[in-house]
Amino acid sequence: MLLRRTIPTFHPIIRLSVIHSNLEASALLVRHIKLFEALEISHGVLDLACGSGRNGRYLLSRGVPVVFADVDGDKLASLSMAEVPDSTMMTLWKVDFEQATESPLAGKTFDAIIVVNYLHRALIDSIKQAVKPGGLVLYETFTEQQRQFGRPSNANFLLKPQELKHWFEAWQTLHYEEQERVGPPSHVASLIARKPMTRCSLA
Ligand SMILES: C[S@@+](CC[C@H](N)C(=O)[O-])C[C@H]1O[C@@H](n2cnc3c(N)ncnc32)[C@H](O)[C@@H]1O
Repeated sequence: MLLRRTIPTFHPIIRLSVIHSNLEASALLVRHIKLFEALEISHGVLDLACGSGRNGRYLLSRGVPVVFADVDGDKLASLSMAEVPDSTMMTLWKVDFEQATESPLAGKTFDAIIVVNYLHRALIDSIKQAVKPGGLVLYETFTEQQRQFGRPSNANFLLKPQELKHWFEAWQTLHYEEQERVGPPSHVASLIARKPMTRCSLA
């Protein structure tokens, strides 16, 4: 497909202006949107494993430039049909974040990275590296307690207690919780953290 052929690397690939999405953004992002609106934008916010792009689209609607990244070219193609207020603020990136070789994030910088309902532990260090000093990470995904409700049940996709918080313990934690959700029932850990400005904070 055209998208698969034309999105091999990280470049502004398609800049579109299209439709409104009825998909709801993460409540965590909506609640803390002012943190993202206050970012000094120079690189854009990465919606990592964006899927439908519900979170990135919400950011776009608030005037924040977004890089939508996913391995699924069909999802990116659907995103390319989405209506956005300003097409120049939208970039699509078809990428496999689980490559055995170097992380696709190596050498890249974003003002913030958002990861919702996706976990690949080998990527955590490069996510931390790719956020600019003073930038943000918003991470929200299932914990081991999710098993009581069904999928995912594979340990590779489930956070251990406090695991997410531990990864970002050198950052300023702005929000952290592990909690059961209703409708549909789920158990998630969620974090928003700011990367310190000093070089020693990069680890
Ligand atoms: C459960 S969806 C979450 C989508 C979105 N973050 C959200 O909250 O609506 C997980 C997404 O991860 C993407 N994904 C899975 N493996 C991936 C990989 N190796 N590289 C990039 N994206 C991947 C899938 O294509 C899917 O869109």
